Amino acid sequence: MRFDPSFIDKVRDANNIVDIISKYTQLKPAGSRHTGLCPFPDHNEKTPSFSVTEDKQLYYCFGCKKSGNIFHFVQALQGLSFVESIEFLANKAGIPIPKSEQERNPALQRMNDEKKSAYQLLQSAAQFYHNNLLKLPETHPAKQYCKKRNITPEMVKEFQLGFAPDSWDSLKSFLASRKISEKLGKMLGLLKLKRSGDGLYDQYRNRLMFPIVTQAEKHVGFGGRVLDDSLPKYINSSESIVFHKSKILYGLDQTSKYIRTKDYVIVVEGYMDLLALYSHGVQNVVATLGTALTPQHAKLISRYTSKVVLLFDGDKAGQAAAKKSLAILLEEKLLPRSVVLPDNMDPDDYINKNGVDSFKEQVAASEDLFFIVMNDLFKNYKGAATDKVYIMEELAPIMSSVKHKGLYELYMRELCDRLNVTEKWVLSMVSPSKKSNDSLSEPVQQQAPEPVVEESLMSLAKAPRHELYLINMALKNKDHFVEIIESDILKQISDQNLSKLFTTAEQLYRQRPEDFDKLTSLLVNKIDQPAYLTGHMREPLSIMDDSASKKLIEDCKIKVKKSYIKAQTQQRLSQLKQGSDMKEKLEQIMNIQKGKLDL
Ligand code: GTP
Ligand code: MN
Repeated sequence: MRFDPSFIDKVRDANNIVDIISKYTQLKPAGSRHTGLCPFPDHNEKTPSFSVTEDKQLYYCFGCKKSGNIFHFVQALQGLSFVESIEFLANKAGIPIPKSEQERNPALQRMNDEKKSAYQLLQSAAQFYHNNLLKLPETHPAKQYCKKRNITPEMVKEFQLGFAPDSWDSLKSFLASRKISEKLGKMLGLLKLKRSGDGLYDQYRNRLMFPIVTQAEKHVGFGGRVLDDSLPKYINSSESIVFHKSKILYGLDQTSKYIRTKDYVIVVEGYMDLLALYSHGVQNVVATLGTALTPQHAKLISRYTSKVVLLFDGDKAGQAAAKKSLAILLEEKLLPRSVVLPDNMDPDDYINKNGVDSFKEQVAASEDLFFIVMNDLFKNYKGAATDKVYIMEELAPIMSSVKHKGLYELYMRELCDRLNVTEKWVLSMVSPSKKSNDSLSEPVQQQAPEPVVEESLMSLAKAPRHELYLINMALKNKDHFVEIIESDILKQISDQNLSKLFTTAEQLYRQRPEDFDKLTSLLVNKIDQPAYLTGHMREPLSIMDDSASKKLIEDCKIKVKKSYIKAQTQQRLSQLKQGSDMKEKLEQIMNIQKGKLDL
């Protein structure tokens, strides 16, 4: 694990779950809880069923049943890994992040410091451009242009859109006034060296600015569009220590939560396409920055969903790009579909002209991209042997990139049927090029490897129901907890993972009994699904009175004990059958059975 538990605790303690969640939904105090509308976009509810318990630092939705602690919340809503959620919350609370072994290396440390300054500079610049746009009068061409392109003030705010003034030194002066390094500004492509070699000037002038922000809320670059037909239409940030076009998808900061909850992503080519769809409520979208999809893009997408709908422009270039993306997406086990919008329209044109319903119909009508590519190849197919070879030469590299086994079999069957050949023949065509394809494929991830090593999470899926009730009753209140850990029942818990969890809970409690309320929030990070331990926050356990609780605990204990005796007896009996130490095993069985009489 990248961070030690005490650091994680520190981050947890420094952030209040109510404050963090309040940024996403309005919470009102109600007794020992705060309640509000569920912030998860897939739930989209009208009456509040989401509740946050400040004492326990947990959330629970009575409607969609999502639950967890502050880390789960940030992971689910921002699409971050556990480690990233810790870094994110540490940054929010201003806690310095301990350096890993790797980062203690001075060269790496220098690079990380430089990156941090770069993020800060880009964020300040984004704010500068954004304020400029907000300040402009309605009659200004930039404001007029936004209107013309249906960019509402809400969208300007949501995506922090900005305006670079028509001046050679407005950003330059701004950076100077903030004492921000010009050199770094130049490295990031915001300032350029004058031809005379004497001083720097603003790269972006008289352009609408699109800040590019990663899903971890880091500013990495800009796109800037002219307000008319002049060229170049867009200037995108050049590659820098923080900007790698091949790894960045525009919009992901805002859209990752929708992608995860809708469980599919629409990939478009342009900033404007993304904004247009988003403003019409189609929010599970990302845009490439005018490049073909790369293996790194595919990897990034696979963190949120496996279902991809490519909505590239209807022109030749767009279609070629879609085709080129196919193998890359299949390589990452993604399921690519695509649709070609009519009349060479791009998604922005289409949705503004035909409305969101018609657009959604187009997406619903998207087809498997492999089939689209295949159908295209079959257009002039007459069944000649040479036709078959030609088609297979085109499809062989694609076939060998299909990593999803089920998908591979279906494609194979379709190919054999359409070509009227055997699978053996297709394979003979696929295999040789598979080799050459592998040797040609670009090395993925040349950048410094991500230091993300997730702690493996325990599953409680196999734990019997009465054992889960027991731990939930224990976590419900301190008296129950003490009573349960002080009885000898814990030794008889059958589920190994649950038994470990109880032991951890007991240790944590003994270290700091006054922190009982935090226990659940600590434990949920050790299991794969928080819901197993937040059962005590919902009915019927949450409303059980004391005597009903006592009765439930007793019932659960009896069940645990019975199962334990049964398992032990079984074990000795099977040893007896193998004939070892007959007398001793018989005695053990009798003792075990005696235990049963005490129930
Ligand atoms: P609009 O014309 O404003 O609707 O733009 P668009 O979003 O439809 O863009 P288009 O389809 O023309 O291009 C897609 C993407 O390619 C853009 O969002 C840019 O990232 C990139 N791009 C387009 N033109 C240029 C250019 O002239 N230079 C660079 N560097 N990138 C460009
Ligand atoms: Mn467009």
